[in-house]
Amino acid sequence: MTLPRFSRREFLKFAGVSMGVMAVSCSGLGYAAIHAPEFVTPEIVYSKDDIMNKRILISYATHAGSTPEIAAVIGETLARRGFSVVVKPVNANPSLNGCDAVILGSAVHMANWLPEMVDFIKKNQVVLSQMPVALFTVHILNLGNDEASRVSRLAYLNSVRPLLDPMDEVFFAGKIDLDALSFVDRLMVKMVKSPIGDYRDWDGICAWSSVIF
Ligand SMILES: Cc1cc2nc3c(=O)[nH]c(=O)nc-3n(C[C@H](O)[C@H](O)[C@H](O)COP(=O)(O)O)c2cc1C
Repeated sequence: MTLPRFSRREFLKFAGVSMGVMAVSCSGLGYAAIHAPEFVTPEIVYSKDDIMNKRILISYATHAGSTPEIAAVIGETLARRGFSVVVKPVNANPSLNGCDAVILGSAVHMANWLPEMVDFIKKNQVVLSQMPVALFTVHILNLGNDEASRVSRLAYLNSVRPLLDPMDEVFFAGKIDLDALSFVDRLMVKMVKSPIGDYRDWDGICAWSSVIF
């Protein structure tokens, strides 16, 4: 099993927050503390009648709703290029049948891809190994161009990389909206001094979608 890499400082912060979480969860406030407001996880189909069109599945894992919007823009851009595209949350267990290529994306949580996407990849590893797969990662820390940031964000894929041989990997800055987070999540992002706001670079996302495949 590959464990996420934290610096000692990050580990101590997360450990402190985790103890706080346990204390709150054991109190009557537990439900309110860990449940965030609902958000939409869209399923979008751009179908082309021409069977010669390449069929692409875009599947995503999200915790707070910013990754689905990125997946939707990627899907729209690919559809405009003439591909048949299905955009689906990984929790809907999308089918790989008939797909010519796949794009998988996940939000980063505690220095790792979300477990539901890692499970999907494990479950479909053999099929995925036989088709072009591109990966996008949505995160808010380690956005810089310096070596330390680059190494840290590459490590977000440590649990995924042994399972796949992706043709491309891209990192997109995400979004932190405190109103969309549970009490516990808010506590965590404050403890790690995360940037707050919407850092998504729509031009960059469209640019990547315009050249992939
Ligand atoms: C509790 C929590 C933990 C997070 N952990 C990390 C992290 O370890 N590294 C990082 O770069 N971003 C981290 N983020 C930022 C998210 O990856 C970013 O906000 C992303 O846009 C979330 O996507 P989503 O809205 O689809 O869930 C974290 C966010 C939350 C709320």
